[in-house]
Amino acid sequence: MLVTGGAGFLGSHLCDRLIEQGHDVLCVDNFYTGTKDNVAALFASPYFELVRHDITFPLYIEVDSIYNLACPASPMHYQHDPVQTTKTSVHGAINMLGLAKRVGARILQASTSEVYGDPSVHPQKESYWGNTNPIGPRSCYDEGKRCAETLFFDYHRQHQLSIKVARIFNTYGPRMHPNDGRVVSNFIIQALQNAPITIYGDGSQSRSFCYVDDLVDGLLRMMETGPGLTGPINLGNPHEFTISELARKIIDLTNSNSELSYKPLPSDDPRQRCPDIARARSELGWEPKVDLAEGLATTIAYFEEQLREGRWRSIGGR
Ligand SMILES: NC(=O)c1ccc[n+]([C@@H]2O[C@H](COP(=O)([O-])OP(=O)(O)OC[C@H]3O[C@@H](n4cnc5c(N)ncnc54)[C@H](O)[C@@H]3O)[C@@H](O)[C@H]2O)c1
Repeated sequence: MLVTGGAGFLGSHLCDRLIEQGHDVLCVDNFYTGTKDNVAALFASPYFELVRHDITFPLYIEVDSIYNLACPASPMHYQHDPVQTTKTSVHGAINMLGLAKRVGARILQASTSEVYGDPSVHPQKESYWGNTNPIGPRSCYDEGKRCAETLFFDYHRQHQLSIKVARIFNTYGPRMHPNDGRVVSNFIIQALQNAPITIYGDGSQSRSFCYVDDLVDGLLRMMETGPGLTGPINLGNPHEFTISELARKIIDLTNSNSELSYKPLPSDDPRQRCPDIARARSELGWEPKVDLAEGLATTIAYFEEQLREGRWRSIGGR
């Protein structure tokens, strides 16, 4: 099994689970946002290999399955080098699809709810085509991921490749970057430091948050389906919270003295985002099981430990 972006947040949890299941795992990462620390516990396994490689360049190896997760996922990181972000999604997809074609591997794409842009329908079903801005600061990510989906479906139609496209919604858990501006990690760190919690906009915009173990379970189930199932399939938690509710929950769970501080909403920030997971339920028998309080407690414990040990990582993750 090849996991690109395997040293990142989701990828490292996926590597853990694949090793647990007894697979031979090759983790490929250029450490742009991922770190060796995330997979260090796997180095002891003879069935785990880590390769430093940028997927915008071809890769010649032999594998049965490819999980293509490589791509910075937070706006702060993907906007740092937007040209590289588009290259990672587009050239990366071409290279990994080319590899899958050459060795006859099945390939799963970690796509995103961002393909729906600022959606005009709610909740989002897979049949919705999205409302994206092609020239804004988020476009390198959104349009890159949309183009990657196009490539996956064209390789499927043109070369009969066995593809799986998962549209991942906001996911959180241990090993999220402490400083990448994503809402859950931001709020937890601010709460743990009793600093003001920054809310962009009035806090009434809603989000749904899926715990990482549930998400990885969805990816594994999807890869195990027969060639007839291509997706796209939404994977996320349909239970909605407003950003203000999330902030208050985190303040409660951390016993923090933090107050809420409101700032203007960045451009292109979606007002509302929530998956319709009917397809995941019927095709994969999947739905999230971990509730927000339980998932937040584990995530808070992780960040407390990071903070205690002074393990802060900066952009680039090195
Ligand atoms: N976490 C979420 O909420 C979420 C939501 C939707 C989609 N996704 C998708 O899931 C995937 C993983 O996201 P994540 O949250 O784990 O992010 P992450 O930034 O922690 O992980 C991405 C990994 O890809 C690596 N990478 C980036 N560019 C690369 C390149 N050119 N070659 C090789 N490796 C490269 C990074 O170093 C990192 O280890 C991404 O494709 C992301 O778009 C994540």
